[in-house]
Amino acid sequence: MRMVDLIAKKRDGGELTTAEIQFFIDGYTKGEIPDYQVSALLMAIYFEDMTDQERADMTMAMVHSGETIDLSAIHGIKVDKHSTGGVGDTTTLVLAPLVAAVGVPVAKMSGRGLGHTGGTIDKLESIDGFHVEITKEAFIDLVNKEGLAVMGQSGNLTPADKKLYALRDVTATVNAIPLIASSIMSKKIAAGADAIVLDVKTGAGAFMKTEEDAAELAHAMVRIGNSVGRNTMAVISDMSQPLGFAIGNALEVQEAIDTLRGEGPEDLTELVLVLGSQMVVLAEQAETLAEARAKLLAVMENGAALEKFKSFLAHQGGDASVVDQPDKLPQARFQIELPAKKAGYVAEIVADELGIAAMLLGAGRATKEDEIDLAVGLMLHKKVGDPVEAGESLLTIYSNRENVEAVAEKLYQNIHISDHAEKPVLIHRVITE
Ligand code: URA
Ligand code: CA
Repeated sequence: MRMVDLIAKKRDGGELTTAEIQFFIDGYTKGEIPDYQVSALLMAIYFEDMTDQERADMTMAMVHSGETIDLSAIHGIKVDKHSTGGVGDTTTLVLAPLVAAVGVPVAKMSGRGLGHTGGTIDKLESIDGFHVEITKEAFIDLVNKEGLAVMGQSGNLTPADKKLYALRDVTATVNAIPLIASSIMSKKIAAGADAIVLDVKTGAGAFMKTEEDAAELAHAMVRIGNSVGRNTMAVISDMSQPLGFAIGNALEVQEAIDTLRGEGPEDLTELVLVLGSQMVVLAEQAETLAEARAKLLAVMENGAALEKFKSFLAHQGGDASVVDQPDKLPQARFQIELPAKKAGYVAEIVADELGIAAMLLGAGRATKEDEIDLAVGLMLHKKVGDPVEAGESLLTIYSNRENVEAVAEKLYQNIHISDHAEKPVLIHRVITE
């Protein structure tokens, strides 16, 4: 087989065979095919697209390019959730203990990553003593006994995706649905998921800015998952404004605790109930979405979800007393209000720009080496559609620097007040095929 023939075939709109896709992924992972040939193929895929069969083949070739996690020693159906990312997205912190409390085994491999705030692990490390450096055996044992554990990403998962992503980044081929869909799905499948719930965000703070693009990506991923034997569904949710009130690490942990108690922000609570219900049904712990939702609401109300969170923290070295004593979380030295300059209705809160503001305070990483300040961030008091008086606080800035003028200026530029505004729709679509 010759790489040049594969490039020509795709350039002319042909369909690559399973063997051809394996050849190119294998050869590239091993360094036997040069970047320039793979770049040419990626650009051909960008223009000519891939069939469903090619997308599934590409996904599985990437899964088998490195190690895979075997979760078969865990009883039950392991359902993983993936979010395509957003601003102040506290869902994982809430969902993991919530669905675990109704009997869904949660074996979460999580990363740190770059972004506006840290990843799930960074957020959890706001809790004194909590750690994710546990052995695979301890991880599996904890999930079997406690129903929930989080382990740091270890091992050499999907090396083909890492290499391809870096190449796509510098060849203007990131934004291609077949490449994005296979990239995301390969990582979930390699991490051992039996079933997958996807939260595909749309809006200013999302990777996919329009609902149409988000739906196309969602359909692509759902079809890949189902065709390789992983029950997969997707929810398209709003990320035009940040989710919930908190953007920051310790602030989001606090928000997660409030939500597990049933006292969280309305949008975050609704999204975790929608995603959680899908997870519970896929894990066969309820027959219908309505039954699943009722179970989730029950464990929020009777305290079982919060108890699950506490025991999870304790089993991984964390000080579970933070749940009842939130002042034990890292605290910022300064809390600065941002008063509204005029009265009206909040018409827009530009999600990605607020994320950047949180990052300027130190809540996130721009490069892998950056340190995160766990205490800092933003706490919104108003969301889109809310009325506001002149001088009323729009949000609180949590900072370890006294001077936040540049951040405040950015915030004013990205929170728009007008005479009229409506609440955005939170759940745009549910996609099952
Ligand atoms: N996220 C991924 O993991 N892969 C992509 O290709 C794009 C976004
Ligand atoms: Ca939030």
